[in-house]
Amino acid sequence: MPIVIVVGAQWGDEGKGKVVDYLAEKTDLVVRFQGGNNAGHTLVVDGKKVALKLIPSGILRNGVRCLLASGVVVDPIAFIQEIDELSRNGITISPKRLGLAGEIQLILPYHKALDTSREAIREGDKLGTTGRGIGPAYEDAVSRLGVRLIDLASFQYLESVIARQVEEKNRYLKSVLGSSFEFSAEAILADLKIAAERLLPYVTNVSLELEDVFGRNGDVLFEGAQGTLLDVSHGTYPYVTSSNTLAGFASVSAGFDPRRIDRIIGVCKAYCTRVGEGPFPTQDNGADGELMRQVGQEFGTVTGRPRRCGWLDLVALKKAVRLNGIDQLVITKLDVLSGFATIKLAVSYMLDGKEISELPISSFDVARAIPCYDEMPGWSEDLSSVRSFDELPITAKEFLRVVGKLLNCDIFGFSIGPSREQTIIV
Ligand code: GDP
Ligand code: IMO
Ligand code: MG
Repeated sequence: MPIVIVVGAQWGDEGKGKVVDYLAEKTDLVVRFQGGNNAGHTLVVDGKKVALKLIPSGILRNGVRCLLASGVVVDPIAFIQEIDELSRNGITISPKRLGLAGEIQLILPYHKALDTSREAIREGDKLGTTGRGIGPAYEDAVSRLGVRLIDLASFQYLESVIARQVEEKNRYLKSVLGSSFEFSAEAILADLKIAAERLLPYVTNVSLELEDVFGRNGDVLFEGAQGTLLDVSHGTYPYVTSSNTLAGFASVSAGFDPRRIDRIIGVCKAYCTRVGEGPFPTQDNGADGELMRQVGQEFGTVTGRPRRCGWLDLVALKKAVRLNGIDQLVITKLDVLSGFATIKLAVSYMLDGKEISELPISSFDVARAIPCYDEMPGWSEDLSSVRSFDELPITAKEFLRVVGKLLNCDIFGFSIGPSREQTIIV
């Protein structure tokens, strides 16, 4: 019966995939509702590591059907590579296990070229995108220049759209961006013809599938990608991704009545990370941040870039709780804080000599905000074999309690390692 949405409460990579994999055991459907292969969700099950980019994190649970809703952008080549790689790892994907909304917008080769060429000319002012063509694909969607998955079934239409788009994109890439990329409509169409055979069998009507599951009182889990502070409307703009990452977007993307939603679970780390550019008030460029990066293995799943690290930011998290309607939190990577004598929590900022308790709207102001920290005693125990809240050191229990209390959220669970059994529900 429960309809649950899991979202990232920080700047992505909070451990959403791992939490969704854990919760998916008792669900009928797992639905991704935004983003594309800019996401990287790492699961560790039976000692085996699986890195998912587009495929929902319910795929390792037999009997669970996974869907990509209309708000996801799909690079056909990346999608085929991902299902082929999963199949080499013994995870067979078929249209029985996975469905793609026909409304999905495709990421085409020129979108990737636009993404990387734009970044290349932003001297000293890069966004730090993943270079996967995410922004340009969403741009074309709202400009009504996009190609949707269902269009692969109408090749005549596709030919005319691609011909027009390739001509426009080539001109823009060369004259405006000074890029050497040049595309041929024929080559793109030939690749799409092959991709169509692989992709079209997965096409489904996500809204109708949901209606059916709701009618049977089934369980649905929505899996967010990226994180709240990367939301294109409410994040640290322009250092954001190009989709709405907030829980509310699940209803728009998948096409269902938002009043169906029972619970919204926010996932955050016990500290903060950010990959790519953009303001990050609690970033620690000293020994603490470096230790978090090494112990937490904070390197991006998609691009391998080192993640910037710093202490937990309750000002930013409070905003995430409000924007999403988060009732419950899962706090991941608690194990990484073992060994810090003192744990810091940002509870407000100083900006222009005034104390503020809200994340400023302007990213320039966020960049200037100086965090004010509360400090708590840390713990030195290795947490990796902890299997219940009661087994935690008293200071770690206190840390979880304080975070829950200051954010007015239940602590639904925590995790103390990357493996499935290292996620503990309180
Ligand atoms: P997502 O994008 O939100 O799904 O998160 P990612 O998978 O990109 O990043 C989280 C990383 O932390 C992955 O490498 C996970 O295997 C790892 N991880 C998740 N939970 C824990 C935890 O509790 N402790 C440790 N040490 N690693 C974790
Ligand atoms: P998951 O789902 C962390 C960041 C990029 C860049 C910005 C814009 O694994 O949490 P884009 O390619 O989307 O145009 O890049 O957003 N970014 C992520 N950071 N986790 C992600 O996904 C991200 N997806 C995009 O680093 O700063
Ligand atoms: Mg990730």
